[in-house]
Amino acid sequence: MTQQYQNSKTLLEVHGLRKVFGETVVLRGLDFTVAKGERIALMGPSGSGKSTLLNCLGGIERPDQGEVLLSGNELTSLSADELACLRRCTIGTVFQFFHLLPTLTVRENIAFPMELAGWSQAKIKKQLGQLLEEVKIGHRAGAYPETLSGGEQQRVAVARSLAVGPSLLLADEPTGNLDRKTGDTVLNLMEQLSEKHNVAMVMVTHDERSTRICHRILRLEDGVLAGVPEERNEEETAG
Ligand SMILES: Nc1ncnc2c1ncn2[C@@H]1O[C@H](COP(=O)(O)OP(=O)(O)O)[C@@H](O)[C@H]1O
Ligand SMILES: [Mg+2]
Repeated sequence: MTQQYQNSKTLLEVHGLRKVFGETVVLRGLDFTVAKGERIALMGPSGSGKSTLLNCLGGIERPDQGEVLLSGNELTSLSADELACLRRCTIGTVFQFFHLLPTLTVRENIAFPMELAGWSQAKIKKQLGQLLEEVKIGHRAGAYPETLSGGEQQRVAVARSLAVGPSLLLADEPTGNLDRKTGDTVLNLMEQLSEKHNVAMVMVTHDERSTRICHRILRLEDGVLAGVPEERNEEETAG
């Protein structure tokens, strides 16, 4: 990471991002930035490329053209090992269908990214204690995912996504499989933890109500971002 980026308020920069699948141009050249700690809602019709964009931001998909810079690191310029390392430690992900590992307990699911990151058992134990408390799931720490409600599973997934202290959380319809009340609880948690730990967030959602936890909305339509008054947004999020 360059000195410039350690000091700047920008976490993520996207320049001219283009993504094509076969004959289909999904993303036609997107430009936007995400500030450290900023929460963005990504909306758009089904099939408009929201998940594809998240995958490009997370280094899972490779853009056909353009750049994604995370803390000043251009993702496509990294080696496979460097990219894996960045993804493991800097980016957390939450999905619609939770994606917990069914053979691991709640505690083990949350500890998994810390194990992968090579943390000591003492450090893992301390962080686990804090996370279980933050998402209020300590009473189910020894349970397996299939015995939990959807809301409980998503709280575990949120804890896991934040386990190693990422700077960016990518969430793809995190409340899409939850009822309204449970979804609200999960959203509130994501907002609180994003604030507390200064984690930026890009959240795909179909639900206008979910955007209440976000500073800004990006709308993806026909492969471009519609109605993004960049200058106004930069003023709003500065501070
Ligand atoms: N791996 C892939 N191979 C081919 N086409 C894909 C792939 N992933 C997504 N697409 C296509 O790209 C378009 C956007 O998909 P997606 O990003 O999943 O949209 P959204 O998340 O907004 O519903 C769709 O037409 C989809 O069929
Ligand atoms: Mg999608």
